[in-house]
Amino acid sequence: MSTAPPLRLGINVDHVATLRNARGGRLPDPVRAALLAIEAGADGITAHLREDRRHIRDDDMARLKAEISKPLNFEMAATQEMLRISLATKPHAVCLVPERREEVTTEGGLDVVAQHNVLAPFIARLNDAGIRVSLFIAADVSQIETAARLKAPVIEIHTGAWCHAVIDGKPDKAEAEWQRIVAGAALAQSVGLEVHAGHGLDYATAEAIAGLPQIVELNIGHYMMGEALFVGLSETVRTMRAAMTRGREKVGLPA
Ligand code: PXP
Repeated sequence: MSTAPPLRLGINVDHVATLRNARGGRLPDPVRAALLAIEAGADGITAHLREDRRHIRDDDMARLKAEISKPLNFEMAATQEMLRISLATKPHAVCLVPERREEVTTEGGLDVVAQHNVLAPFIARLNDAGIRVSLFIAADVSQIETAARLKAPVIEIHTGAWCHAVIDGKPDKAEAEWQRIVAGAALAQSVGLEVHAGHGLDYATAEAIAGLPQIVELNIGHYMMGEALFVGLSETVRTMRAAMTRGREKVGLPA
């Protein structure tokens, strides 16, 4: 049997806040969703504090940090405001994501090549504060090599293009995107990066990507919350975990 670290499941609770904000007020509470997800087997919670606060709000992030027992992954744009809030919040990890068009590669990841000079001091500040920095990037050679040069310990591979091609029934595009992810994960590990993946994953794509031994964490939100409407969040987390375990075991990896 090959060795690979177990695969962690991070649950993104943004869309619980989307639903809450549709009416204002306090319900449904993303912190309650986070606590339930952890009880059902999630290894961590992700939330994205956007500049426009369209879903998660500042007090959600503070409450998540105070109330959950598992690592908090704070997704944010590389702005001075978010740097200040994240340094005050002290999450386990910060995942830097694009929010503006000029920060994005054609595949949708953060363009760390074009943003290198902006990101370098930013990542250094977070590293110095003991916060694990993850860069949400496309599985491209230049993006991955730049992430390593920027001394970010982690990348999260953007799986959106692959997942959309799978769902849209475009097998050639899906295969090309999959091969990019396979090669990117191997390259990232070879240059010393920890590799996560996320965006657009469902049970089937999570099971497939669980077969890549370099990947140690999946962050999943939208599909989980959609399923949760029908079968409940706990059941959704358990079913996702089972899919990930099948994917790991199929290729002889420990789950
Ligand atoms: N990872 C990152 C960096 C994200 O920004 C998001 C949300 O867009 C996700 C994972 C989760 O994606 P989804 O909600 O499509 O599962």
